[in-house]
Amino acid sequence: MSFDQQARDLVAQMTLEEKAAFCSGQDFWTTRAIARLQLPSIWLSDGPHGLRKAGGGMMGQAQPATCFPTASALASSWDVELLERCGRAIACEAQASGVHVVLGPGVNMKRSPLGGRNFEYFSEDPRLSGKMAAAQITGMQAEGVGACLKHFAANNQETERFTSSSDPDPRTLHEVYLAAFETAVKEARPWSLMAAYNKLYGTYATESALLLRRILKDQWGYGGVVVSDWGAVDDPVAALRAGMHLEMPGTDNDHMERLIAAVRDGSLEESTLDAMVGELLRAILAVHATHRPEASFDADAHHALAHELAAASMVLLKNDQGLLPLAAASASKVAVIGGFAKHPRYQGSGSSQVNPTRLSNAFEPLALALGDRLAYAEGYLSDGETTDALVSEAVAVAAGADVAIVFAGVPEVCESEGFDRTHLFLPAGHDRVIAAVAQAQPRTVVVLMNGSAVAMPWAEKVGAILEAWLGGQASGEAIADILTGRINPSGKLSETFPRRIEDTPAYPYFPARDGVARYGEGLLIGYRHYDTRCVAPLFPFGHGLSYTRFAYGAPTLSAEAIKDTDTLQVSVPVANVGARAGQEVVQLYVRNRTGAAVFPDKELRHFAKVALEAGETKTVTFALTFRDFAYFEPSIEDWLVASGDYDVLVGASSQDVRDARTVTVEATRRAFAPLTRNSLLKQVGAHPHGKVLYRTILEAVAPVFGMEGKTDPEALTMFERMIADTLIHKFVETSEGRLSEHRLDALLAEANAAAPAAQG
Ligand code: BGC
Repeated sequence: MSFDQQARDLVAQMTLEEKAAFCSGQDFWTTRAIARLQLPSIWLSDGPHGLRKAGGGMMGQAQPATCFPTASALASSWDVELLERCGRAIACEAQASGVHVVLGPGVNMKRSPLGGRNFEYFSEDPRLSGKMAAAQITGMQAEGVGACLKHFAANNQETERFTSSSDPDPRTLHEVYLAAFETAVKEARPWSLMAAYNKLYGTYATESALLLRRILKDQWGYGGVVVSDWGAVDDPVAALRAGMHLEMPGTDNDHMERLIAAVRDGSLEESTLDAMVGELLRAILAVHATHRPEASFDADAHHALAHELAAASMVLLKNDQGLLPLAAASASKVAVIGGFAKHPRYQGSGSSQVNPTRLSNAFEPLALALGDRLAYAEGYLSDGETTDALVSEAVAVAAGADVAIVFAGVPEVCESEGFDRTHLFLPAGHDRVIAAVAQAQPRTVVVLMNGSAVAMPWAEKVGAILEAWLGGQASGEAIADILTGRINPSGKLSETFPRRIEDTPAYPYFPARDGVARYGEGLLIGYRHYDTRCVAPLFPFGHGLSYTRFAYGAPTLSAEAIKDTDTLQVSVPVANVGARAGQEVVQLYVRNRTGAAVFPDKELRHFAKVALEAGETKTVTFALTFRDFAYFEPSIEDWLVASGDYDVLVGASSQDVRDARTVTVEATRRAFAPLTRNSLLKQVGAHPHGKVLYRTILEAVAPVFGMEGKTDPEALTMFERMIADTLIHKFVETSEGRLSEHRLDALLAEANAAAPAAQG
């Protein structure tokens, strides 16, 4: 019998009380079991970069599990295949721990580098985030564990996170804040989505029929479960009605009683409750059936995968004169400075915190490789402060070596779920030690451990910078491998590193503190802001160096002109012209030049990570389709392509575009709001069937403006521009009788009859 049929049979046997109770959890982590119906309960655990199976309450001690790099690191690998393997590994651990659903991944956009949970999210770009999430979910679910895509939606700040309303304009909502969810939902069909704590347009996300019904279910065709974030439900009846299936955790029966009362007093149809419980049951039965109670996992293999992922995610930001990798010459002495070398920061704080199966640091493998060529200084205290004595010691050690490596980053107390960062800097002690060491030792390397972008006032003074992120339990080994050249770095930034907070897109409105986040930057998030407004970042989105070099050939397009229903193939040869094997992340951006609306300078549409031996060339091919050229048109609540020219840019980062080609795209579907008496003259002019009306109006008012019989093109253009923004019904009066109300209405009716609102 299908799960659907079983679910329906179960619903038919359940009492109203059982159905209402089923809509919320049994305890912190499990759904209700109903013994009489042999209905099992399932276990949900965090997520997202490893399993946190906590006993007891919210932050109970978790079972040991592999701590993979956090999402900002993972996204910097730009490697969908690795993300899928990561998903599989997490799911294997979930199977072995009796967990059916893993609460992740998270795809909220990084509006500001100060977002407290940025480490848990992939990127400032919806395409990159969506693809990473889809791969991770695909991996998890291939191993029979449900994923929970979170936090739906527009959950972009920690300040006032339980109450603040996120109010982006509708186009921005769809293009920026929903697009990654949409990609992941459509490509990977996650078992569940988690409705966020925040409100959207004043309504709690858990009660938002716009989000949960209209967009998720009706527009995207999602058929899975909507789970509340833990404690996010205010009104259980409104939430159920809006499309939320499962409230977590359980709530001492209060919400169950409110559901029962609503059915009894007729304010909630029992059939609505039945439908929601049926959908939830179907999903629970399905995920229970793929559970493998006998499963176990190989902790060594998973640690090795964590190592591989960490290495693939790290980004070499700067490497002057090939300072890295460290010279193998046995004579060179290396100063290792900073407590993070021995006690790394490797994951974020809050609900995602994994209890790792083991933990490596960079110091031990470096000490092993370098022997007595390595000298160490602590540099700073665990709270991030330093002292004159520690600085002097660091400087002395650095000056006595051939190269200094300073480990620095953002301590836990500054970066966590639950609150936003208050500034962009490293702790003062870290900055001070780096500056002092760089002054004493021109060959200084900085290794950073942080979950989101940081300012680097010393960036010009140091020779090399490696962004190691919060790289998980094997990050120490991965750092050592990159520093010594055993592994060639291949990560690229999944978020822009600004020079200063004042340059960031949401400054100074982030975080909102008055209950409403207004998203004034609109579409211009991340590199869209820097590139459109020509604000120079410290390191741009997509940037990352390698120990080898890559040359891009000329891109070729399969056509110079296409229809928006066609597929455009873009091919570009990429060659490894350096001396060693490496991997390059090839990025494809599209620039909309149609002028049909406001567009960012460019938007990432495709990427591919290619492995190349020294001297090898591979051709990367991308297939561009409708959505690569489309924008969200609020007047028809749908995606639309504007006719015109688009630049296809291929490059190594958002600011290292190697070459571009132009394609002309013809729209097969155009949206025109019906013309009314309150349309503007320019809207009539742009309407496909507005020509007659437009000419009639111009002729009727020309004498009033002294334009009768004039033929000078410049004067005519100016005349048309002057009256372009006028409501057309005003021309009846202006025309002094030459345009009657009756004629206006008749011409309007003609134009509208010829053109339906949205032409298919
Ligand atoms: C977090 C979620 C998490 C849940 C369960 C909430 O506070 O926002 O991301 O999955 O707790 O731990």
